Amino acid sequence: GSMLGGGFANAADSAIDNILSTGELKVCFEAGYIPFEMKTKDGRFIGFDIDISKHMARSMGVKFVPVNTAWDGIIPALQTGKCDIINGGMGITPERNLKVLFADTYLEMGQTVLVTPEVASKIKDYRDLNDPKFRLVSQIGTTGAIAAKKYFPNAQLDLFETSADSVLQVKNGKADAFVYDLPYNAMYAAQNKEGVVHLDEAFTYEPLGWAIRQNDVNFLNFLNNYLVQIKKDGTYDRIYDKWFNS
Ligand code: ARG
Repeated sequence: GSMLGGGFANAADSAIDNILSTGELKVCFEAGYIPFEMKTKDGRFIGFDIDISKHMARSMGVKFVPVNTAWDGIIPALQTGKCDIINGGMGITPERNLKVLFADTYLEMGQTVLVTPEVASKIKDYRDLNDPKFRLVSQIGTTGAIAAKKYFPNAQLDLFETSADSVLQVKNGKADAFVYDLPYNAMYAAQNKEGVVHLDEAFTYEPLGWAIRQNDVNFLNFLNNYLVQIKKDGTYDRIYDKWFNS
């Protein structure tokens, strides 16, 4: 297809043309988001989204090509053709949806907080964090950052490039609370029982979806039907159980 910047020359152009002609499904994500996409010590990418992406590529008869991208620039990377799809735990928000197409929701979750043991002993629930005496942290450009501003406008907020840098602030006692996606927080808390306490009451509703370039209805139709198929034939559950119930 003749791709210019983020747009397409005509409505018939689809990422599908490029995927089939190159034999590659290029997938954008930002590794470091447990259990969706992680980078192993030997440089491989693993996780729920990665397994789904590999299966998706196989279903198209092409090779999965990982495109690990800073979260901050992930939508521009899609728009400029560095990848064909974002499959990276992206929340379907109205703001993002003005820039990209989202396939139907593949997973639902919400925002929670990880707090220091000291803060946990002092507060009743997450609402008490809306206080200037608390220093909150989250990752730049995430729904966690948006939720932190919306639900805790009176608290201090510092944003970091990665989730790992953000959550470390709480683990090291330099910040009081980390606002982020429930699955990440649940798993991080399970792995760091001494350092952090998970207040696991989600206070937002967040559907996750695969993002593609605007106008590409051919690819959108493929993805929505593919999603129904894997949800009904056991593929989705098998991959889900592997990463969420182990
Ligand atoms: N679900 C959140 C969002 O849409 C966080 C996703 C962060 N993903 C990542 N690789 N850090 O903003």
